[in-house]
Amino acid sequence: MSYPEDLRGLVDDALAKLTFSDSPPTAGLEKAMRYSLLAGGKRVRPVLALATARAFGTEPERFLPVACAIELIHTYSLIHDDLPAMDDDALRRGLPTSHVKFGEDVAILAGDGLFAEAMRLFCEQPGEPARVLAALRELASATGVDGMVGGQYVDVVGAESDAEGLRALHALKTGRLIAASVNVVLLLEGASEPETMPYRRFAEELGVLFQIVDDILDVTESDEQLGKPHGSDERHGKLTYVSLFGLDQARELAAKSHAKATAALAEAGGETEDLRRVADYIFTRNE
Ligand code: IPE
Ligand code: IPE
Ligand code: MG
Ligand code: MG
Ligand code: MG
Repeated sequence: MSYPEDLRGLVDDALAKLTFSDSPPTAGLEKAMRYSLLAGGKRVRPVLALATARAFGTEPERFLPVACAIELIHTYSLIHDDLPAMDDDALRRGLPTSHVKFGEDVAILAGDGLFAEAMRLFCEQPGEPARVLAALRELASATGVDGMVGGQYVDVVGAESDAEGLRALHALKTGRLIAASVNVVLLLEGASEPETMPYRRFAEELGVLFQIVDDILDVTESDEQLGKPHGSDERHGKLTYVSLFGLDQARELAAKSHAKATAALAEAGGETEDLRRVADYIFTRNE
């Protein structure tokens, strides 16, 4: 089964149309924001959001504002992750990183700007206000201290050393934003608690799977293939599934995680075919 390219196309088109200001003094900032946003990228998070909409029988186009908002937040996290004070990487999405191209000061602001514009875009999502607000809360929480930013903190501080700590790190750093890509749509749909349970379990496991595979690819693939520098984790002495378990066992753990995610999805009602496709892609990808 293949990645839902039609959903990816919808996301790419919507992102390309996004502009943030007509004001000449900030044109350079907008250029830097769009540079990272439109450099390519697999669009896994927004595609997950749109595939969840499809599972509930909603036209994917309807949720493009939130899908794009999630991709803006993800792109901001990549710009900051690559900064010299963080992973100090020079290549991202096949291009020089933001700070290499525009300088550290502009790169920091481009990340800040993407985060704020994501919030604005999310608030423009049509729908029942209480549902939009609940969904926004989920996204902000998945990005914050008990989410991506908290996970990045645990990663840079480097205090974790065992399997439990590593899973918790992955769940925060990558898992929560991936899971939120599904969960915000569940909230916008106003789905009942029992109905959402299998989707939530699927989304949570998928997030951890995503980062296990990212750890493996950092070791096995080339810069050209990844569009980012391989070996970045080892260079920084990062705790990863590969550093802790070795490559073979990391692959086994990824297979188990994929099986767990798809088993949860099998219990979900609705048209879950595209979600299954994304899960398979996340497991088998080499980019
Ligand atoms: C990379 O994310 C950062 C992680 C959370 C592992 P992606 O692998 O989704 O990067 P893009 O969006 O395709 O560039
Ligand atoms: C970072 O993890 C995840 C983010 C929240 C951006 P990594 O540092 O492993 O991401 P890559 O490998 O640089 O994309
Ligand atoms: Mg990092
Ligand atoms: Mg990195
Ligand atoms: Mg990585």
